[in-house]
Amino acid sequence: MCGIVGYMGESKIKRILLDGLKELEYRGYDSAGFALMQNGRIEAYKAVGKLDNLIHKTEAVQSSGFGVGIAHTRWATHGKPTELNAHPHQGRFSHVVHNGIIENYTELKKKLQSEGARFLSQTDTEVIVHLYEQLAERHKDSAKAFEETVKQLEGAYAILLIDERCEDRIFFAKKGSPLQIGLGESGRFFASSDAALVGLCHEAIYLEDGCWGWVSPESLNLFEGESPVSPVAKAIPPTLHSAQKEGFRFFMEKEIYEQAQVLGDTLMGRLQEDRVHLEEIDRTLLDGVEALRLCACGTSYHAALASTYLFERLSRMEARVEIASEFRYRDPVLKSSELFVVISQSGETADTLEALKMAKRAGLKTLAICNVDNSSIVREADATLLTRAGIEKGVASTKAFATQMMVLWLLSLLIAQRHKTLDPALLAQEIAAMRHAPQVLQVPEKLHDRIHRLSKRYLHGHGFFFIGRDLFYPLALEGALKLKEISYLHAEGYPAGEMKHGPIALADSELFTIALLPGTLLKEKMRSNVEELIARDSTTLAIGPECFDLADDYLPTQPTDHPMLEFYEMMVVMQLLALEISIRLGNDVDMPRNLAKSVTVE
Ligand code: M6R
Repeated sequence: MCGIVGYMGESKIKRILLDGLKELEYRGYDSAGFALMQNGRIEAYKAVGKLDNLIHKTEAVQSSGFGVGIAHTRWATHGKPTELNAHPHQGRFSHVVHNGIIENYTELKKKLQSEGARFLSQTDTEVIVHLYEQLAERHKDSAKAFEETVKQLEGAYAILLIDERCEDRIFFAKKGSPLQIGLGESGRFFASSDAALVGLCHEAIYLEDGCWGWVSPESLNLFEGESPVSPVAKAIPPTLHSAQKEGFRFFMEKEIYEQAQVLGDTLMGRLQEDRVHLEEIDRTLLDGVEALRLCACGTSYHAALASTYLFERLSRMEARVEIASEFRYRDPVLKSSELFVVISQSGETADTLEALKMAKRAGLKTLAICNVDNSSIVREADATLLTRAGIEKGVASTKAFATQMMVLWLLSLLIAQRHKTLDPALLAQEIAAMRHAPQVLQVPEKLHDRIHRLSKRYLHGHGFFFIGRDLFYPLALEGALKLKEISYLHAEGYPAGEMKHGPIALADSELFTIALLPGTLLKEKMRSNVEELIARDSTTLAIGPECFDLADDYLPTQPTDHPMLEFYEMMVVMQLLALEISIRLGNDVDMPRNLAKSVTVE
């Protein structure tokens, strides 16, 4: 949700800014822009749409020698994706880029306008630069002006600001949106995520909320409120590689194919013969825990929902799930005997992060299941289980979901071991299934071809219902989300048994039902539900190990005796179906309209 890059040094500034934005483009791609300052003059460039538009527009722009630059890729919150609303925003002598939302911008804007400031955009961000300039004129001290500016801002922000009157400084501030300062041999770097720092520096300072300051060629000045803070640099994870498509048409496709391998990484060192061992979890974390409260958004929320079936069945532990954006504005009754588990691919989702802070304030122990080490959620939680999916670039989450499910499955077995809720033979069966899981995620060429051919029959209609029961109901929700986010077709996930309580009224030949028919759970019940839809002429695609003659189409999965193996195989089938439908419709699979990878605004 917006990406920020900054650089101060002597290397090619434009190249560094644009390369950094390329790495962060998945965070927002409505427009992009950058500002370069050399010899006390700022030049800014902006373009609407994908970053390539900005790259073409600025082909002739050159920079040499010392300079500073700030850049931004936008996911629109206030104001349409136009060039005027694109960042950087400018005043008379300074420019700013911002990720987040300034909640009190309306009142600040009114005040600034009444005092003569002229606004060019509809954004909340623009107040920052006008406020700063007004204070800079008043105080004749840029650092003081920046500090006062930050004090007046409410909401969430990561900010970089440059000022022609102090040409060797980049001011920065962070609250609620991620920002890192990279320390490289060729200068100082800023980025919203590690991904943009790889290859430029080995160490970064991961800024905490409430921090602000400035960098100059000689110094890094960091404050928390009014107090100076000593910066602590951490190594950027050595395994973090810039992701490439490696011959696949889209990152999402590559990430679907990677699932088998990354699931192996998720398991590495976590299975010991017939036991689960999670060394990241201190024994005391689970002491006194009687129930789990899981909290997440989107795909991660679906992983949480699916895991409740595992916690109940395997660990005999109550597990309740919360949508983070709902949870944080309720007045939830929280018990200290609950472990609060947040699940997030990015580790930066604003609602999930706030929910986590709420649970901590209420005195609950907290655990993060996350894909990004050093992310805000990881830093906030008491303990973390990393999912080890590697960088996920496709906005539609695939391998992150697969690995989240594996970590949750591992956790359910760890609790089962502790509470002795599974006899050793059953525990051994679970572990054997887990070890086998990476294999079922391999994508057979024949299956992908078949889905490709079939996809041409599912490009229209008035809607899709993905239906399943038990574990396969949250999987149906996830299948529907995948399809709608990249195909823009209407899709809903539903518990199959609920269809006759209303939604079946929609059934006709233009309603597509994607039915998850596992062999291991509620087979007959599920068949009856599907037959009810077929009787009303819904066009049906059945997915499962047994051919279902009544359905219009059928995609096979391998017969197995473990529901999680069926879960994983069906997950891949639905991911490929969404991918192929989206490609046929000519959509940008990796950067679907209106979305961004990491949702750092509430
Ligand atoms: O980074 P997070 O897992 O916290 O993100 C939560 C959702 O925004 C995310 O899962 C979203 O729903 C995916 N793009 C769906 O594919």
